[in-house]
Amino acid sequence: MHILIVFLLSFALCIPSSCSSAATDTLLQGSSLSVEKPNDTLVSANGVFSAGFFKVGDNAFCFSIWFTKSKQPTLVWIANRDQPVNGKASRLTLSNNGNLILSDAGASATTIWTTTTSSSSEVHLKLRDNGNLVLRTPQGTVLWQSFDSPTDTLLPGQPLTEKASLISSRSTTNFSSGFYKLYFDNDNVLRLLFKGPNVSSVYWPATWILPVDQGRSTYNITKIALLDPFGHFTSSDTFQFYPSDYGVKRYRRFKVDSDGNLRLYSFNEETSMWEVTWQVLAEPCTVHGLCGANSMCTYDPFLGRTCYCLQGFKIKNPNDWTQGCEPEFTTPRCNNSAEFGFVHLPRMELFGYDLEIIPVTNLTQCENRCLELCDDCKGVQFKFNEKSTYNCYIKTILLNGRDSPNFDGEAYLKLPKSTLLFLKVPLKHVPLKCSANMSQSLDRTYQDPKKSTWLNFLLWFACGIGAFEITCIFFVWFFLFRSSKENDQGERQQLISATGFRRFTYSELKKATRGFSDEVGRGAGGIVYKGTLDNNRVAAIKCLINETNEGEAEFLAELSTIGMLNHMNLIDMWGYCVEGKHRMLVYEYMEHGSLAENLCSNSLDWNKRFNIAVGTARGLAYLHEECLEWVLHCDVKPQNILLDSEFQPKVADFGLSKLLNRDDQRANSGFSRIRGTRGYMAPEWVYNLRITSKVDVYSYGIVVLEMITGKSPMGIHSQGNEGGIDQRRLVTWVKEKLNGASERESSWIEEIADGNMEGNYEAAKLELLVKVALRCVEDDMDARPSMGQVVEMLQFPEYRSFQ
Ligand SMILES: *[C@@H]1O[C@H](CO)[C@@H](O)[C@H](O)[C@H]1NC(C)=O
Ligand SMILES: *[C@@H]1O[C@H](CO)[C@@H](O)[C@H](O)[C@H]1NC(C)=O
Ligand SMILES: *[C@@H]1O[C@H](CO)[C@@H](O)[C@H](O)[C@H]1NC(C)=O
Ligand SMILES: *[C@@H]1O[C@H](CO)[C@@H](O)[C@H](O)[C@H]1NC(C)=O
Ligand SMILES: *[C@@H]1O[C@H](CO)[C@@H](O)[C@H](O)[C@H]1NC(C)=O
Ligand SMILES: *[C@@H]1O[C@H](CO)[C@@H](O)[C@H](O)[C@H]1NC(C)=O
Ligand SMILES: *[C@@H]1O[C@H](CO)[C@@H](O)[C@H](O)[C@H]1NC(C)=O
Repeated sequence: MHILIVFLLSFALCIPSSCSSAATDTLLQGSSLSVEKPNDTLVSANGVFSAGFFKVGDNAFCFSIWFTKSKQPTLVWIANRDQPVNGKASRLTLSNNGNLILSDAGASATTIWTTTTSSSSEVHLKLRDNGNLVLRTPQGTVLWQSFDSPTDTLLPGQPLTEKASLISSRSTTNFSSGFYKLYFDNDNVLRLLFKGPNVSSVYWPATWILPVDQGRSTYNITKIALLDPFGHFTSSDTFQFYPSDYGVKRYRRFKVDSDGNLRLYSFNEETSMWEVTWQVLAEPCTVHGLCGANSMCTYDPFLGRTCYCLQGFKIKNPNDWTQGCEPEFTTPRCNNSAEFGFVHLPRMELFGYDLEIIPVTNLTQCENRCLELCDDCKGVQFKFNEKSTYNCYIKTILLNGRDSPNFDGEAYLKLPKSTLLFLKVPLKHVPLKCSANMSQSLDRTYQDPKKSTWLNFLLWFACGIGAFEITCIFFVWFFLFRSSKENDQGERQQLISATGFRRFTYSELKKATRGFSDEVGRGAGGIVYKGTLDNNRVAAIKCLINETNEGEAEFLAELSTIGMLNHMNLIDMWGYCVEGKHRMLVYEYMEHGSLAENLCSNSLDWNKRFNIAVGTARGLAYLHEECLEWVLHCDVKPQNILLDSEFQPKVADFGLSKLLNRDDQRANSGFSRIRGTRGYMAPEWVYNLRITSKVDVYSYGIVVLEMITGKSPMGIHSQGNEGGIDQRRLVTWVKEKLNGASERESSWIEEIADGNMEGNYEAAKLELLVKVALRCVEDDMDARPSMGQVVEMLQFPEYRSFQ
């Protein structure tokens, strides 16, 4: 009887206060969302958008709206992008007087953000199906809406007006305000602006042509731009565009990306990924400020955009190119112009920051003017003009430098003579250390709110009893209906299906593999079976040996990251199964099996081998360097490189080693156990050194040497009388052959090349591959190239330089 009363009491007390339940689209007056409850979110009625606290750092959250159907939640709006709140005690409250308040933890619950609204009548906050968060009265008066204050994204139906602008985020992982802004200028033209810490400039539309000549109207003061659901974008200055998939009804978003480009994304329901269907700048290097000062931006269709420092300069912050490069030299005093000289940078365009523009007849004149100006001149741009003379542009800042093959001018960089003598060929591709450092943590002191302790106690007590009862009822229900739960779509399954790939049941996979009968492979991680899924797709099903006994939640967390990766040289994962102690992964099936089998059966000619080397490097480069995710493979070997029907390589088994956090300390502790396979393991493992992406580079180098020589470092499919070869001996053997080459020119290649190729190879390419592989297997990890550099060296062997 007592229990029943407490139980009822608990319900009476709980419902209106802190025990708010999830999956509603409305926040009522007087209630709040708490950062500490992950389920305290508003979900739009159609389930497409959610609003709540989004984790942006270790202990930092932003109140945001995100799109839920993509593999990773896509942020479309943030309330407090420049001031994240603490992961404890922060909350969003709709006060009784109609104000929406985001408060942070701390001694006096600081207000971080507020709508500064008030209303005498009742109001509520509702997340609508189109992603608009609206504070309104039941009569329909809108007091505030998120559509009026966009962050960096515009959704269909959301107008961009004079009062609002889109500001990019700082990077793909830092959601603070960045440097790029889309706005209506005073002359009513829609523009893109780079607003750096010290300088700013418009880069779209082109500033050297009048807006009218670019089809823009400067007279319509309405200043409004709008994206319709079919993808048509119109602006009151008569700018408009249609995307490549115009007319199809899909989810879309229009965004100023952190790289300064303006893109329209459409959602592909099949892959659960966003696709770019329009972008404003085809040449990313035309965005200003991207690479910072004293650097050069270059664009390559394979590698995308890369930045590199001008000669004599070095990168300031390896996590952030926008800070540019700083001189490696000390500038001599400018009383003697003989101290300086010039470096020629052909076809390099430097935009803006001209101290003066003077017509000259020859370069000497231009250089002399620069020397006269001392420290104010950092270099010159020298360009032919129509009057058959040249223009000399004196540059005070070397910003917006870009390599543009069609440019008919050149640049000259002023450097001290002492530096000029020792100039190195610039390193073209300096891989950025992606700064996804999720360790921003806010430290606040908490004050225990000791008010109304007794009431609180009663409330919590009642809630606790209530929760206990519900748990009991749930357990009874659980045991009664357990048998029918086998095929039940549990809550968690719904959660995961929103992230893209599928959950399979054990019985489904048992059926697909006909009782796990067709074993196609076996490794340290588990056994692989071939199976046919319901939709007749042939799959490879890997049963993991769950020796770590990791929990289901951890397993799912790792999976959701792996499932997000998508590259033509990475194996595609279709789903997984977690049931009891079973942990299985479902992959696409590769017709030609693994590289190891193919090397054994001698089915690879030289061209296939070279393509496999390049493709594997690309796949690994994607895992390592794409700034979105950083995954170490840790077990690169021929058994993990699979070949599709056209012998294109696909790297498998990535991400099974624990996903590495960029935070080195944490990474080290996460790698207490040696991973990898004998014969392919980098020395770092043995000497217990820092584990970085260079361990994969090392293993890759060994795999390439194996492909060239046909000698397995594990001695499985050995050649001739070697009887298998140890990895170290393989490396030294190839090195000796190469070093002895000067005496006997071409024969060293014949000596090391796999006899199975019967001499059918391109000697020059093979030599290149050997040299790249040997750099990959350097003992010193810093001497090894990054995977991105490997791709570059293999694709563009004529390593470019300025000279
Ligand atoms: C939150 O929701 C998930 C899935 O909907 C559920 O598994 C979990 O138990 C919920 N947590 C709380 C504290 O309600
Ligand atoms: C901006 O200017 C200040 C003062 O001249 C300088 O210290 C700072 O490095 C500059 N910042 C950038 C990003 O160039
Ligand atoms: C200004 O732009 C708006 C919105 O595009 C349009 O409806 C209006 O007709 C335009 N006015 C003039 C004078 O062109
Ligand atoms: C330049 O200035 C330095 C320091 O003031 C002085 O020592 C040096 O002699 C000067 N050089 C010339 C060529 O005037
Ligand atoms: C460059 O032009 C200046 C002025 O016309 C002239 O005095 C000088 O001799 C020229 N130098 C060369 C190398 O042609
Ligand atoms: C994000 O960028 C801002 C502005 O540059 C900086 O102040 C902040 O510390 C960055 N946050 C993280 C987590 O790096
Ligand atoms: C990540 O941030 C923490 C704290 O700001 C810092 O100590 C650490 O060096 C950073 N790690 C990297 C790889 O930048």
